[in-house]
Amino acid sequence: MVEHSPMSPSQRGRFITFEGGEGAGKSTQIKLLADRLQKAGLQTVVTREPGGSPGAEVIRHLLLSGIGGLIGGPEAEALLFAAARDDHVRTLIAPALDRGTWVLCDRFYDSSRVYQGSLGAVSPALLGALQDVTIGAMKPDLTVILDVPVEVGLKRAALRRGSAAPDRFEGETTDFHRKLREAYRQIAVAEPERCVLIDANADQKVVGDRIWLAVQDRLLGWPQAKPEPAATPTDKAAAKPKPKPKAKVRSR
Ligand code: TYD
Repeated sequence: MVEHSPMSPSQRGRFITFEGGEGAGKSTQIKLLADRLQKAGLQTVVTREPGGSPGAEVIRHLLLSGIGGLIGGPEAEALLFAAARDDHVRTLIAPALDRGTWVLCDRFYDSSRVYQGSLGAVSPALLGALQDVTIGAMKPDLTVILDVPVEVGLKRAALRRGSAAPDRFEGETTDFHRKLREAYRQIAVAEPERCVLIDANADQKVVGDRIWLAVQDRLLGWPQAKPEPAATPTDKAAAKPKPKPKAKVRSR
């Protein structure tokens, strides 16, 4: 179980996870959001799962390379994802949040719920037990679920991949990706407090603005939030650093 130092909730960083199927645009949108948060004066760290810490990156290699096929079944695979998460949370995520840094993570435990649970038929009981051990009560403050039609996502993933072979999950059938999309949509419906479902079948800038509005509204407490206008060089020179926003206190 992850231990936390006694820090007031407003001093702690916020934990935002990004989820979605293949080609949803998570990594692009994470970078855009990290830039915006940094411009707002907030320390941020961008990380990913599986991986994100040296130990977890070793497990990532096992899971996503061809070696993964040698692992004996979905339960064993779920244990490996959980082992990677445990290391990542202990060595990177929890210390960063404790320092007041905002953590933006490309995939987190919802990926296990969807890929290993809904699609891999690993029982909710096992996934729940692994979740208790690896993250305890430290749920994300916000989970951004990027939603794109399956055909669009697969096309984007193929473009990004170029001539490289698809990884273990990219190589799955269209039916698999359709079920994946549905499973994410169900999580968004079941946990509206934590999750925001973003229509990501649009221009990157438009999607980025949608996410920024959700972050301002839910985490920064800027209820009248509007997408910021593009800064001109003169604006940049004149811009004063914004005061550190008071984030809403949310239960973890
Ligand atoms: P990655 O190369 O990071 O691709 P993506 O851009 O899709 O995030 O691959 C990570 C893969 O691992 C992805 O297909 C989802 C899968 N995964 C799980 O099955 N369970 C998990 O808990 C996590 C974190 C990822």
